[in-house]
Amino acid sequence: MIGSAKGAPVSITGLGCSVPERVVTNDELARLVDTSDEWIMTRTGIKERRLAEPGTLAMSDLAFPAAERALEQAGADPRSIDVLIVATVTPDMAFPSTAALLADRLGMPDAAAYDLSAGCTGFMYAIAQAYGMVAAGLSKKALVVGGDVLSSILDWDDRSTLVLFGDGAGAVLLERVNAGGFLGFELGADGGGGSSLWLPGSGSRRFDDDGAKFVKMNGREVFKFATRVMVTSAEAILEECGKTVDDIDVYVPHQANVRIIDHAVRKLGVAEEKVVINVDRYGNTSSGSIPLALADAADDGRLKPGKLVLMTGMGAGLTWGSALMEWTHDGNGAMG
Ligand code: ACO
Repeated sequence: MIGSAKGAPVSITGLGCSVPERVVTNDELARLVDTSDEWIMTRTGIKERRLAEPGTLAMSDLAFPAAERALEQAGADPRSIDVLIVATVTPDMAFPSTAALLADRLGMPDAAAYDLSAGCTGFMYAIAQAYGMVAAGLSKKALVVGGDVLSSILDWDDRSTLVLFGDGAGAVLLERVNAGGFLGFELGADGGGGSSLWLPGSGSRRFDDDGAKFVKMNGREVFKFATRVMVTSAEAILEECGKTVDDIDVYVPHQANVRIIDHAVRKLGVAEEKVVINVDRYGNTSSGSIPLALADAADDGRLKPGKLVLMTGMGAGLTWGSALMEWTHDGNGAMG
């Protein structure tokens, strides 16, 4: 799916993020599995990640402070929110949705609330949906949360996945604005590659394998897929919106791995100072990754009104998605 924005201008008016307090370094993981700081740094660029103490945090717990911060930044009353979408692959439970539980906790009696599953691309899918609802006039204030407690589905004996991921969540409020905001979206999915990154024992299809309740990944296949779509998706949305790479002020790629980001930056020809990278501090936080990176860009002063921002995500599905937007609001203080 691809399209440029033709309806009323819609933008992000509030941004908030949240991560668990516990910092886990590569050296700590090397005490659990046969790995090393050197291997992890060379292959991924990750130095540390935030992980919930086992059994202490569900997705709605991580989402709650992020959502509160986004609402506070936008000056929005929770009761005015009419739709809440939570993009996650680690909901509190299959049902009720994490979004319904979160809407209740935040005090949003008039919000339609549902979860969305598109792997690490969930945040991109969710903001595209919210954009459509706000631009069409169906929603006035749409809150989107992206994030995961991936530590709850990791195999703590599997070094090939354990070292890559972290826990984190981000929230954004979408509203109509006078000018600027989202310019377009490109989203896609290829279920043929689904088994390259999956949680096989998590639904109605039965698997005999005892380990099916953990994330399983073919790293090389995901790497090939990621390096391809990070480039093709970005190029497609730029062309659709009549922009070029040189027009981009801030490039916010999904924070999976520094090597994947470096490849995309080189192929696209984005200047290095425009690239936001925080995978070294958070690892891959799935749908939390792009809002966490937006928060970093806001805090270091790069995300100012008028700046052209390109975001591209990819992940399980296999899925991918890009959004191009002209930033309209000050996003400082999103980490609280
Ligand atoms: N520590 C030490 N050795 C390891 C580790 C580890 N943590 N993990 C794997 N190895 C070993 C392997 O067993 C293998 O050993 P062998 O040669 O004796 O068999 C060796 O290292 C090389 O393994 P490869 O898988 O070939 O390593 P590669 O260079 O491909 O790097 C990596 C692995 C980092 C996972 C890479 O494939 C990658 O980044 N893939 C993309 C992963 C990703 O981004 N996933 C998430 C994206 S989608 C989303 O965000 C949810």
